Amino acid sequence: MGYNLTTTRAGLTPAPPAALGAPLFPILPRPNLDWTPEVEAATAHLYARVAKVMPPIEWPFHAPYVKAINELKKARGAVILAHNYQTPEIYHCVADYVGDSLQLAKLAAASDAAVIVQGGVHFMAETSKILNPAKTVLIPDSEAGCSLAASIDGADVRALRKQYPGVPIVAYVNTSAEVKAEVDICCTSSNAVKIVESLGVDKVIMVPDRYLAQNVAAQTSVKIIAWHGACEVHERFTAEEIESYRADHPGVKILAHPECPREVIEVSDFAGSTAAMIDYVRNRKPTRALLVTECSMADNVAAETTGVEFIRPCNFCPHMKRITLPKILDSLIYMREEVTIDPALADRARASVQRMIDVG
Ligand code: 13P
Ligand code: SF4
Repeated sequence: MGYNLTTTRAGLTPAPPAALGAPLFPILPRPNLDWTPEVEAATAHLYARVAKVMPPIEWPFHAPYVKAINELKKARGAVILAHNYQTPEIYHCVADYVGDSLQLAKLAAASDAAVIVQGGVHFMAETSKILNPAKTVLIPDSEAGCSLAASIDGADVRALRKQYPGVPIVAYVNTSAEVKAEVDICCTSSNAVKIVESLGVDKVIMVPDRYLAQNVAAQTSVKIIAWHGACEVHERFTAEEIESYRADHPGVKILAHPECPREVIEVSDFAGSTAAMIDYVRNRKPTRALLVTECSMADNVAAETTGVEFIRPCNFCPHMKRITLPKILDSLIYMREEVTIDPALADRARASVQRMIDVG
């Protein structure tokens, strides 16, 4: 059964006075969220996608939300963009598009949907809004932050410019729109070396991740001046921990995210963005794999992969985990939380993100 776009006076937002006309996005009726034979039948094909990583006893809690979200998405003309760290019931069962930060940014730029719901953290939703300002971009929990984005603001970047006149500043996309507006170009974990070298200079400033900066510096002759931020999830891994997993699991292929400390990358077999790690597993099919990153990554890859044993020394990202099915549902019902950015600031931030995309 579909949903009608009818206004309801129930809920948090009162109906506007008649003189203002119908709201652009009226509140939708709250769907029934009971676990019924109809829900079970309608979602069986989606459970099949996560069955390898989710016991059957859990599905009745997720399935009513999955069904309701997929119906409400259609009613709203919305797409859900989900980062690779979203939980399997989001990633495999309600997302329209999934990917790493670069892929999600490109998908947001190309989207012709009226509404984009970001399954990810706040800077990702801001990037979607920057690249597609005419769209309504929603984040199901506006408190979904990032320790990297929180480590630097626009004033810090202006101070760096004064301290290092003429040195170009590269910002990881894990930054606020305010920071993106102040820098010369953005990068992600999948293109950082290429972006640094595209500038044709012998010295650059990289903000905010000191570990990404060190890992880029190890791959280029360009001198890197780094900000002191760190990802609270990846900085907790140690080389000693990784070495002990290698000793306990002979033949394991160890894939690490470049936000990990240098010592961790040095004892790994491969370093790359979340999408690059997924591609490695899909294409090379190692017998055993260990993904040194956020926990849901291995779940999402394991759900769709056969013949690979996953060893899981993962860390949770508390910010990514703020996004849940109930919050996505509320997001679609009430159209909250809408991401807004001052248009002049967004124009400046867009120039930095677009320069990155143009590098290819
Ligand atoms: P990716 O761009 O590799 O997906 O990384 C984003 C992120 O926040 C990793 O912590
Ligand atoms: Fe930020 Fe780290 Fe969480 Fe990624 S995993 S969103 S970098 S805190």
